[in-house]
Amino acid sequence: MSSQFPVTPTASNASPKRPPVTLRTLAQMKRDGQRITMLTGYDATFARLLDGAGIDMILVGDSLGMVVKGEQNTLNVSIEQMAYHTSAVAKGVSRAHVVGDMPFMSYQSNDDDALKNAARLLQAGASSVKLEGGAKIAKTVVRLVEAGIPVMGHVGLMPQSVHAMGGFVVQGKDPESRQRVFDDAVALQEAGAYAIVLEGIPEDLARDITDTLTIPTIGIGAGNCCDGQVLVLYDLLGLNPDFTPKFVKKYVDGAAVVQEAVRTYVDEVKRQVFPDDDHTFHAPKPKVVSKESLTLVHGQKVVGHH
Ligand code: KIV
Repeated sequence: MSSQFPVTPTASNASPKRPPVTLRTLAQMKRDGQRITMLTGYDATFARLLDGAGIDMILVGDSLGMVVKGEQNTLNVSIEQMAYHTSAVAKGVSRAHVVGDMPFMSYQSNDDDALKNAARLLQAGASSVKLEGGAKIAKTVVRLVEAGIPVMGHVGLMPQSVHAMGGFVVQGKDPESRQRVFDDAVALQEAGAYAIVLEGIPEDLARDITDTLTIPTIGIGAGNCCDGQVLVLYDLLGLNPDFTPKFVKKYVDGAAVVQEAVRTYVDEVKRQVFPDDDHTFHAPKPKVVSKESLTLVHGQKVVGHH
């Protein structure tokens, strides 16, 4: 059956196949000194674009609490919401490794909850999960890894601990805090994590951790010495003109691009310029019937068959 509407490409009919990114790929990339690229993603449409552009990993981050739900922090995201977005992202991906972020209080209270909730993200389509915390959650990481659930750690600035940290502030600046972040990273590797996000720490600390660990480090606000980098997609796209922290590079002024498109649309609709004929359906014109093609049937004129 053909349709007048274009069918949105799915992961199965998208661009040329490259082998999926697995834990082995990521470990090999660290050994080869090849940088790992990760971005956050929250839906199938963007996931398809990121995957097609060659991103190695997509993190379905609990940052969705802020950039999708409009909250002030990430504390109000549920496991149901994470599973919903993870499932959408997984459907748009054919190569990238999808990481599901474990939201606040989905793993901190006990290991059974952690196992059950991590399983939900894997069942939704993630290939691994990410947990914030270091030595304190090492035992939980061991349990998850033993159950066959790959774990990415996250140390340094941990947004789920925003109140304990006194805000979104850079960590590891004084010797005590520096040692704590370092020890946390080592504890996670020992617990079996396959990679660690280093967020909001000085570059030289990130370098020390990266040189010490055998597993890949993925930095955000941690300088240029990590094995890979991650950014929140909406930040890279410049979708929030009011958010310009030092560590974010806006690769496009997305806010301006989107608003200009919407302004033009509003203007064209108001002036009845859109939709024009190129974007309008018409019923086929009725056929003109000549007198000669009419036949008499029981005294009535009907359109003649050839
Ligand atoms: O939730 C998120 O987007 C993250 C990244 C900032 C690493 O955890």
